[in-house]
Amino acid sequence: MPDVCFLPGPMEGVMSPEFIRGANTLKVASCWITPFFRLSAELPRVKYFRNFLAPYAPVPVILQLMGRDPELLSEAARMGEALGVRGIDLNFGCPSTQVTRHGAGSALLKEPELAARILRKVRMAVRIPVSVKMRSGWDDFSETPCLLERILEAEPDMLTLHYRTSREQYRSLSGERERRFETASKIIGKRCRWILNGDYSTPEEMHRDIARFSASGAMAARGLMNDPGLLRRAAGLQAGSPEEMRQALFQAVNGQYAGNMPKGRAIELSILLWGRNNPHFARLTGQGPQ
Ligand SMILES: Cc1cc2nc3c(=O)[nH]c(=O)nc-3n(C[C@H](O)[C@H](O)[C@H](O)COP(=O)(O)O)c2cc1C
Repeated sequence: MPDVCFLPGPMEGVMSPEFIRGANTLKVASCWITPFFRLSAELPRVKYFRNFLAPYAPVPVILQLMGRDPELLSEAARMGEALGVRGIDLNFGCPSTQVTRHGAGSALLKEPELAARILRKVRMAVRIPVSVKMRSGWDDFSETPCLLERILEAEPDMLTLHYRTSREQYRSLSGERERRFETASKIIGKRCRWILNGDYSTPEEMHRDIARFSASGAMAARGLMNDPGLLRRAAGLQAGSPEEMRQALFQAVNGQYAGNMPKGRAIELSILLWGRNNPHFARLTGQGPQ
């Protein structure tokens, strides 16, 4: 990992093999973090894991695991390591009720001792770096200092902090990002590399906050869909304008389907890139006036 890194946020449901392969042709990211790989009862077959990871090559990939069984997660981490992933990321942030009602994802923020135990166990199982991606608490930001202490005691190699709590889902919270990262930076200090996350959409904002909060980098998920050149520009590399990059990404993903992206996929992708009611969908899919 470079000293300062700009990472794509994992996005379950968006990062299909075709999406990743298309994005790789544009060199959108210099390292990927997979969407969560959920482990609830048993380990998957190696072949299944290999297929899950295959689209990312040759770009380095960090495998994100989700679950609440330290033993199972450790075994999966070992499998990932054997398959050549660069690191293991533990998902302590997913707010979806489908996940949290089983005690996984951000529900682990209600059980910091278990979260720390998982982290310790996985760290002991592998030699590659182990990171955590978390929200700023389950219910309220006041939980964060305690939570961070428990997690930091278990010595993650890197920690990504989304400034919202799980309860806050994706609500807009004016001014809270700065206030919360200020508090987090005092607790984290130099104890661990940490990555800022939540609503980053320009390189300038990322650079400003990395300097302001002494962070090691910034992550963008939705911002990357809005501007697929965002991480390249943040890292000082060349990229087209946001609109050029959206067009290029759409075409690159379409290319992965040999120019015949299924209509449903095309609709989904155009909405992700341009939002609802976008004028590009009709043109790009030949469904309207050319
Ligand atoms: C469609 C979608 C899927 C996501 N899937 C994951 C996931 O699998 N793992 C994860 O850690 N975060 C996931 N996230 C959260 C993002 O990685 C990121 O933390 C969050 O969206 C805040 O960053 P942003 O404001 O840059 O989008 C997902 C977000 C979206 C919008």
